[in-house]
Amino acid sequence: AGHDQGFRQCFQAILGNNTTSEVTFSKSSSSYESLLNSSIRNARFLSSSVPKPDIIVTPQSLFHIQVALLCSKKNNLEVRVRSGGHDYEGLSYVSHVPFLIIDLIKLRSITINMDEESAWVQSGATVGELYHAIAQKSKVHGFPAGSCSTMGVGGHFSGGGFGTIFRKYGLASDNVIDAQIIHVNGKILNRTLMGEDLFWAIRGGGGSSFGVITAWKIKLVHVPSTVTVFDVSRSLDEGATDLFHKWQTVAPELPAELFLHVVVGVSNSGSQGGKTAVLSFTGLYLGTPEKLLPLMQNSFSELGLQHNNFTQMTWIQSVLYFAGHSIDESLEVLLRRNQTSSSFKAKSDYVTEPIPLAGIEGLWNMLLLENSPFLIFTPYGGKMGEISESETPFPHRKGNLYGIQYSVNLVSNEEAPEHLDWLRRLYEYMAPYVSKFPRRSYLNYRDLDLGVNKRKMDYETAKSWGLRYFNGNFERLTQVKARVDPGNFFRDEQSIPPL
Ligand code: FDA
Repeated sequence: AGHDQGFRQCFQAILGNNTTSEVTFSKSSSSYESLLNSSIRNARFLSSSVPKPDIIVTPQSLFHIQVALLCSKKNNLEVRVRSGGHDYEGLSYVSHVPFLIIDLIKLRSITINMDEESAWVQSGATVGELYHAIAQKSKVHGFPAGSCSTMGVGGHFSGGGFGTIFRKYGLASDNVIDAQIIHVNGKILNRTLMGEDLFWAIRGGGGSSFGVITAWKIKLVHVPSTVTVFDVSRSLDEGATDLFHKWQTVAPELPAELFLHVVVGVSNSGSQGGKTAVLSFTGLYLGTPEKLLPLMQNSFSELGLQHNNFTQMTWIQSVLYFAGHSIDESLEVLLRRNQTSSSFKAKSDYVTEPIPLAGIEGLWNMLLLENSPFLIFTPYGGKMGEISESETPFPHRKGNLYGIQYSVNLVSNEEAPEHLDWLRRLYEYMAPYVSKFPRRSYLNYRDLDLGVNKRKMDYETAKSWGLRYFNGNFERLTQVKARVDPGNFFRDEQSIPPL
């Protein structure tokens, strides 16, 4: 309680009673719990045994953030910054020392400049709100960020951010042209003031090590007035293994306008009602069915696509589609922040050499041991192969055929260990087939199995995940960190240590 009271007194002394009661919420506040839970996107961290913040601050202005930083320093409270709360390990709202959350839910304005084809987006906006705002202005502009519409811009952009048009336009972070950050000393910095190395660091190096990023200036990209979507599923009995084997080399080489990922789950639709893996080959083409059909017949005839597999729609409808909505639904669904969340654990990999058939068969056999495994295979290539590894901290560029996300649903806490164990065994099984030295991972698919900072942070410990997320860029990140936050105020389990 001491931390909490001291913080409020400090906040009150500067901002007065009214503002303090409007923007700070302690555990005794009646809205504390609903506010805390409103942006928890992994039910694994909803349980009462998970440590909770002493206080939640919902700043309505940059000044409120500055005061929150000052008062948390004075009261020895660690700060976690939350935008959309999608962190896979809950790092934006869970800590094991006394802490507060700066929740950016009220800082979510989006200002689009069509003449410049750019936008300023505050970090608390969701990507769904961004897509919606763009669609209100133009049918032929879009932005290359991820599919899940409730993700926060703050975490998503600072960790990279890929989606269905990233083979054409790169990551969300590749399309950031300016930003606004509140430095540990409280100063508000834009790109010019923060300098190119900090601006580099926050476009893929994660936000949580460097300050509170409050807004991003992005360049919008061009999309055709209609795009084409398809989705075909094949079970193991239907030749899915051979299709996947071929997909590995085809998908990364397809034109950048065509995104063809594979989503894998298990179902009971196998022969004699047995369990089988089902692979969905789902595509988005920035063009017409007339051009897509010959393209697919020439490059991947085995998939057997016909005209009737294709649905033509606007780009924003494809956003609805990949976010799991009906394409006829009102665009307003993109503004919905609340959603029910499952309890899950995920891990990631990158593949640089096609996996041989025997390896793929072994992978499916592993999947059949689990009730609700969920895998996504995301093809790279296109624009991703043209950007150098050191252009931003996100290093997974040329030479990667595809990325993998493995995840498992955790139905109950009692059974969780068994499923986590399965996921870790699957990850071990995959080791021979994926990138090595380092085995690479995607920061935005945060995985604390890769290692965590000790109380006294050191470079050697942090290398165990730092090299996997950032490869050759890790060292530069530690240098930037040492310059902008030498006292290591902004820290979490996997933040960058100051060199
Ligand atoms: P959250 O608020 O939890 O923040 C994540 C991290 O960034 C934390 O460390 C946090 O402290 C820090 N942070 C957040 N805002 C900050 C700020 N303003 N300043 C400084 N630090 C800040 N990814 C992808 O690339 N493509 C995809 O299609 C998907 N799909 C997807 C679906 C679902 C259901 C989930 C749960 C996640 C994804 N992701 C994804 C992963 C997603 O990109 C990742 O979880 C992002 O970090 C989410 O950003 P949020 O702001 O929502 O997270």
